[in-house]
Amino acid sequence: MKRYLGFKSIKSKIAVYIAGIVILFSAVMCTVFLIFFMKYSIDTTADDLMHHTKSISENISGSQSVTDGVSSGRGVSGKGKKNNRNHSGMSGGIKGYIRLANSLADAEVFIIDMKNEDVITGGETVYNTYSDMPKGYMDVIQKSFSGESGVVSDINKRSFRGHIISYAPVYGENDEIIGGVVLDRNMNFMESGIKNVFMIVIMSIVSAIILSVIAGIFLSGRMINSLSVIKNTISEIAKGNTGKKTGLKRNDEIGQLRKSVDTMSEKLKKADEERDKLEKLREEFISNISHELRTPVTVMRGMAEMLSDGIVSDENEKDEMIEKIKNESIYMQRLVNDTLELSRLQNAKFKIDSDIINIQELVSDASRSIRHLAAEKNINVITDISVGETYIKGDYARLRQLILVLGDNAVKFSEENTDVKIKVYTYNNKVRVSVKDRGCGIADSDIENIFERFSRSRDERNKRGTGLGLAIAQRIAKRHNTELKVKSEYQKGSTFYIDFDIYDNVM
Ligand SMILES: Nc1ncnc2c1ncn2[C@@H]1O[C@H](COP(=O)(O)OP(=O)(O)OP(=O)(O)O)[C@@H](O)[C@H]1O
Ligand SMILES: [Mg+2]
Repeated sequence: MKRYLGFKSIKSKIAVYIAGIVILFSAVMCTVFLIFFMKYSIDTTADDLMHHTKSISENISGSQSVTDGVSSGRGVSGKGKKNNRNHSGMSGGIKGYIRLANSLADAEVFIIDMKNEDVITGGETVYNTYSDMPKGYMDVIQKSFSGESGVVSDINKRSFRGHIISYAPVYGENDEIIGGVVLDRNMNFMESGIKNVFMIVIMSIVSAIILSVIAGIFLSGRMINSLSVIKNTISEIAKGNTGKKTGLKRNDEIGQLRKSVDTMSEKLKKADEERDKLEKLREEFISNISHELRTPVTVMRGMAEMLSDGIVSDENEKDEMIEKIKNESIYMQRLVNDTLELSRLQNAKFKIDSDIINIQELVSDASRSIRHLAAEKNINVITDISVGETYIKGDYARLRQLILVLGDNAVKFSEENTDVKIKVYTYNNKVRVSVKDRGCGIADSDIENIFERFSRSRDERNKRGTGLGLAIAQRIAKRHNTELKVKSEYQKGSTFYIDFDIYDNVM
């Protein structure tokens, strides 16, 4: 059926639907019009005829006979020819009256004398006597003779042809019934009237269909063009051209669709960029780690081969090599552990703890370990906690690790017999932890990169540095919705600091 109709496109479907609706609407309108037109025509004709019938009846009532009535009603003096059955020979007065009545009422007028059954008529149809008349007339005449008045219609509902007949009694001098008046209006004019109206209606329907189909095609065409643009954009996106926009400017439902497509495209583009970035990071990471591992592995292998080949015979030298292998393996272990820790912290799905932490305890605990490291270089670690009992939320072990990274660096990059100051104080309604040293400081050109993985100084004091400490510390900070910052003056010293939200809901 579908194939037969061939209406595949929305445009042709809309055109067909519109045409269907117009036809249906017109059919309903025509039927309603016909019903009302017929009812209106019949009712007004019936009223009109009745009105004429009654006025003729009243006009000729009150005489001895119907013929007298007709003559006197007309205002004609003298008496008409009684008993004259052939009214074609009737006086001009009576004929004239009936003709006048005919044309006034636009109907054929029959006046019937009840006594002698004469039929007075002024039209084409002549009946000598009432019994010559067709049955339809005889029925209504009988009714008028019995004092009734009324209207009957015999209009064919298909051909719209027929007659409307009205009737009324005629009264004599003593109010007795002496005859009847019958008016017959031919309603065949309705047929041509309705045919004309039908022609007009059909022409209107055809024009309405043509106009509405053209309007429908035009409007749907605009809609479909927009849909095609959206479809093409989606195809482009599906081919991998993410970020492609529809370029449409509509505010209707199609506009909402294009907005969704544009948003989707933008999000896919961002996801693509994010994926590319992650992929690049992953590649960089693998290349960095393999690079970092290459040196210790080469050193260890060389020394292990020398030992196994028996090249080294001196016991002290052997011990030194074994010590070196041990140190390199410790370094490798640290590198692997730090790398793993960093990748765990970078994974958003990896959950960290959310404890309520007393910041005094945390900083004192970390300071103790830093002091232990500092002792070797006779560095004085000063802890200055100027806040009362203050709490923050976070992962205790990781925050301790963060402070240790800062302390370790401060000690590592400071000269012997200097100070490292660890401070806790409130700043802008937050609690700030800072680690300050009077060490070598960081050059402006390096400061931007120090939080990057494997970014480190290569000098003698940092020969065991992995360059992962600050990267891990910054990751920990980010996982606590804060940031690790630095102020440094080259050759003078550095201050690393971090702000935490104060947790107030402690019972
Ligand atoms: N307090 C500091 N004073 C001077 N330079 C610093 C300080 N802290 C960090 N840096 C610079 O930033 C670099 C990166 O530090 P980071 O802690 O990430 O790695 P590292 O200390 O080199 O190695 P690791 O901490 O893994 O042993 C350091 O190598 C150093 O150049
Ligand atoms: Mg470090």
